[in-house]
Formats: sequence, structure tokens, C-alpha cells
Amino acid sequence: MLAQPLLLTSPDSTATVYQHGAHVATFQPRGQRPVLFMSAKSSYEAGKPIRGGVPVIFPWFGPNPAEATAPAHGLVRLVDWELESVDESRLVFGTTAAGCRLTYRVSIGMTLALELEVRNVGTAPTQFEEALHTYFAVSDCRQCTVTGLEQTPYESKVGETDGSEPIRFTRETDRLYLNTQSTCVLHDPGWQRRIMVEKSGSDCTVVWNPWIAKAKAMPDFGDEEWPAMVCIETVNARANAVNLAPGKSHTMRQVVRVNVL
Ligand code: BG6
Repeated sequence: MLAQPLLLTSPDSTATVYQHGAHVATFQPRGQRPVLFMSAKSSYEAGKPIRGGVPVIFPWFGPNPAEATAPAHGLVRLVDWELESVDESRLVFGTTAAGCRLTYRVSIGMTLALELEVRNVGTAPTQFEEALHTYFAVSDCRQCTVTGLEQTPYESKVGETDGSEPIRFTRETDRLYLNTQSTCVLHDPGWQRRIMVEKSGSDCTVVWNPWIAKAKAMPDFGDEEWPAMVCIETVNARANAVNLAPGKSHTMRQVVRVNVL
């Protein structure tokens, strides 16, 4: 079992964050529904990822391109991070991986603001992928749309070919949009809210819903949970991987804002 998560409070919201993976598990504006999805089947064990909330992905996204047995989505969602500072509404974590020092700042208020800074502490240039793999809670993904990525080319892992319309969830969806800095909006008419995902220092966005078969295949995800979540992920991957000279740093930010209609 993992240590209990840390609790953040602000006049406008609360959040819980595990030191394991520096993992934001919940974020809830006061008087509103939870913003993040968390699977009831998630394991909370050392060495395993938490299924839901905001996994931090580094230094590779998806399967490791060179080593088939390496864990998916990198190393840092599997380990405890160091707690560098704690305030009522703000936490700073640090960890070292792949020759880089990572600093992750989590702050809450009207928004959930996340900032991942990576510094190359080695002596050679390095390249990495990274993501804030955010799981949003929705009333029913089949009623939801995502705007902000129209006209943006994407690679699909599952053969989707939809064009320039807002994203609708009608099947397994697993898209990597490249060269986009756009804000995305998740429209949820069932819960009468809009979730805005703003970002900087990120050139890719991933949109993911596992749908029926993949949900069944994932041991740490309930068979019937797929309608209740949509992932919109702030990413640098593939052609948008980050190159960093020794001593240099790169910062990726994501701000989540909720509009109740
Ligand atoms: C997404 C990927 O980012 O993460 C999907 O695009 C993947 O292909 C999903 O299935 C979940 O990955 P994991 O390793 O947490 O099961």
C-alpha cells in the first residue's frame, strides 16, 4: 500500500496528491463535482502506476522504443518523489531520472496548475518525451465533445480517420496530435460544465478513451468505467520530443479551469 496522499486546500478548491509518482489524484472546486477521474480498480502499490488523476510521464511516452520490457510511459510514475516544499495550496516535488533533475509544482485555487521543469544535469545533450496524462471525469463520454484540435493532424494508434470536426467519442480513441499549442475544451452537457485545458511548453496533445475491449483488457480499470472518463494529455513526444543541452532546462505547464454552465 502507498502512504496516504497529501491534502491541498484553498478557498476555492481541494486536491489530494500522492508522493508516489507526484500524482495528483483528485481536484475539486468547492461545491462542484470532482474534475478528475480515478478508477475504482486502481492499484495503490509501490512500483505500479495509479489509474486516474494526473500521471506524470517521463522520459518516454508509451512503450519504450528501444526496450520492449521497459515499463510503458517511463519511470517517474512508478517511484516516490522527494517532497521539496509544502504549503496549504501548493506542493513542490523533485526526482532524478535519465540524467535529468525534475521539479514538479502543483498549485490549486480556481484552477489546477501543474508545472514540470526538466533540467539536464548530465554532461551530454539529451532527448526525452514527457506528459501530464490527465484523466477527466465526465457524465458520459458519448455525450461529450472536445474542441481545440480541429484542423490539427494526428497519428491514431487505432486507425481513426475523422477530419476537422470536434472530437466525439464513438469508439476506442487514441490520438496523438502533433505541433499544437492550443487550449482544448471538454464540453460535458450531462454535467453542464466545460473543462478548459490550457498549456505551454507542450507541442502535442493526446486524446484517449479505451472504450469496451481495452477497458476489459486493463486489469486496473473497471470494465464499465470507460464512459466516465476522457484523457486530454499535455505532451511532448515523437517529432516533438524535447532536446536539452547540458545545464539547460525546459518547462511544460498545464492549467485546468472549470466553467459550470
Ligand atoms: C495513452 C496512450 O496516453 O495512455 C494509450 O495513448 C494508452 O495508448 C494509455 O493505452 C494508457 O496507458 P497505460 O500505460 O497507463 O495503460
